[in-house]
Amino acid sequence: MEIFKTKAALKAFLKPLKASGKKIALVPTMGALHNGHISLIKVAQQNADIIICSIFVNPTQFTDPKDLEKYPRPIEHDLAMLQDAGCNGVFMPNVEEMYPAGADEKWHIDLGNAEFLLEGAFRKGHYQGVTQIVKKLFDAVEPDVAMFGQKDFQQVLMIKNMLAHFNLPITIITCPIIREDDGLAMSSRNIHLTLEDRKHSLVLSKSLQFVLDHFDEYTLAELETKAKALYDGIDGVALDYFTIANGDTLEPAKSKAEDNLVALVAAKVGSTRLIDNMIIK
Ligand code: PAJ
Repeated sequence: MEIFKTKAALKAFLKPLKASGKKIALVPTMGALHNGHISLIKVAQQNADIIICSIFVNPTQFTDPKDLEKYPRPIEHDLAMLQDAGCNGVFMPNVEEMYPAGADEKWHIDLGNAEFLLEGAFRKGHYQGVTQIVKKLFDAVEPDVAMFGQKDFQQVLMIKNMLAHFNLPITIITCPIIREDDGLAMSSRNIHLTLEDRKHSLVLSKSLQFVLDHFDEYTLAELETKAKALYDGIDGVALDYFTIANGDTLEPAKSKAEDNLVALVAAKVGSTRLIDNMIIK
């Protein structure tokens, strides 16, 4: 497995491979890898010849400087996991390499109204930062395909909108959410959960599963009320939002007959903010 710290070194590695017709996949990450990330590498291997994983904790997508500071960076562990998974190359630039003019470099594109809903409402400017770095990573790798997790449902939508904005010839593949055995969606942030938080965190997946299991029994409003009620009285858990939304617009679903419905949730569990979602239909 090759490691690249500069775009130039990465491009030099990829050039002959592309010339010989190899299909290139990019799996963008911020490191602190877990089996959710590794599942993206596995899907990439089924869809391309050469797999590049990027590890870059992108400052422009963090709205809380403390969150950026405490983001875990276990690089040796990450590299060992990628090596085991059979990843071909790791791109791990520093901030100067990605933002030569400084991280306050100007970037703004129209991502549609969904930018301002859900995560966008709680983390102002977050998706501008995400699309800014993903565009830079796409420019550095020029992949044929790129893998993203359904775990960050809104992120996938925003990246597809960015792709359309620039008319980039890259196929986006959305990969299913990998969960712990008890249902908690894997996340780099889970290591911040105390033992007590860890127990309480199960309410997220349970409330989503509730909607999925009882979809035919109740109205949309009843489903939401009942799912939200599961959070009542759980110590240290504060719901940011729980919604059953249209999967294209992220606006609240108007009717159960809509054919692309997803339940999405964000909650603070102790001091850790978690997100999760389930596609209902
Ligand atoms: P990060 O949070 O490291 O996630 C990297 C990729 O792994 C994302 O596409 C995310 O959706 C996916 N992922 C995370 N947890 C997952 C799980 N439990 N199951 C399946 N996939 C999972 O998302 C980012 O980094 C950044 O915003 C990034 C796109 C790299 C831009 O900086």
